[in-house]
Amino acid sequence: MNKYTIAVVGATGAVGTKMIEMLESSALPIREIKVLASKRSAGRKLMVNGSELVIEETTPEAFDGVDIALFSAGGDVSKQFAPEAVKRGAIVIDNTSAYRMDPTVPLVVPEVNPEALKQHNGIISNPNCSTIQMMVALDPIRKKYGLSRIIVSTYQAVSGAGIAAVKEMKDQARKMLNNETYEAIILPSGGDKKHYPIAFNILPQIDLFAEEGYTYEEWKMINETKKIMSDNEIKISATCVRVPVVSGHSESIYIEVVDESATVAGIKEVLETAPGVELQDDPSVQLYPTPLTADGKKETFVGRIRQDIDVKTGYHLWVVSDNLIKGAALNSVQIAEKLHTMSLIKNKMN
Ligand code: A2P
Repeated sequence: MNKYTIAVVGATGAVGTKMIEMLESSALPIREIKVLASKRSAGRKLMVNGSELVIEETTPEAFDGVDIALFSAGGDVSKQFAPEAVKRGAIVIDNTSAYRMDPTVPLVVPEVNPEALKQHNGIISNPNCSTIQMMVALDPIRKKYGLSRIIVSTYQAVSGAGIAAVKEMKDQARKMLNNETYEAIILPSGGDKKHYPIAFNILPQIDLFAEEGYTYEEWKMINETKKIMSDNEIKISATCVRVPVVSGHSESIYIEVVDESATVAGIKEVLETAPGVELQDDPSVQLYPTPLTADGKKETFVGRIRQDIDVKTGYHLWVVSDNLIKGAALNSVQIAEKLHTMSLIKNKMN
């Protein structure tokens, strides 16, 4: 059987670390894992599958002999090195927003649109973390009842902003509890002028502000949903909020379905067998998902399903998933697994 050499770019980061974990438990036939990061980490060692691997600096030559490169080191690194990896024959699965809206690049949630992989030209984009879990939960409902509108409010974990942001939140919390002075340097966005503490706080801004008063994160959810669902007509609006949670994004989602025969029971039945979904919905025993119960898990959890009070075709759902796992690392590895099962990887050893 073909065995692949897989590079993880950003191997020391919040997502890269999880990518390695997901590869360790993946059924993909792997010959070698290469761990790449910045010059700062080169020479340091990482334990992978019980062996010590030496971190290499990300350079064009580091992709020689690589079949699949998983990127999660920021958009600039992807823009600089993904074409170099492709030039050397690798397939890039990119977790940044660098190529997501490029019409020549498939944007894939394997449970939803795996067939888009057939159109790839070397680069495949992994959608935004908040978009992925929403697609996993909503696409089965869309397939059964049609979907005309989505209004989503997110409650996003700090790990989505990287390891340094989590450290900053913990430092702030410790200092606040000790009545010490604290700093806010990273959130809501490292690239913006003003910064606010996230400990004991919530921030209604993720990424920079863009057109019409929406942030880039909100536009990502809007545009990526249309691309993944191949539906430019769907009405969708998003409000993205950072909350002081380490891991696990939560979403309050309002949908309007097309089919008037839809019911709460019907939606629950659809989700009970939907791939990647686990239904946790029983108010009588206070069963619903939370970020802590979703932490470290692969599934997208759905609860609190109820009909809107006024709109007959309107439904509300509460959707939670580990943003570093299904929202990033697992989805990337599942894309690699799909490429393998669909025989879309040209193996270097052939
Ligand atoms: P390093 O640890 O060497 O800085 P996070 O998302 O948790 O902030 O992690 C970002 C990841 O991106 C880290 O693995 C980091 O490596 C990596 N990275 C940052 N800048 C570069 C770069 N110029 N080239 C390659 N990897 C980079």
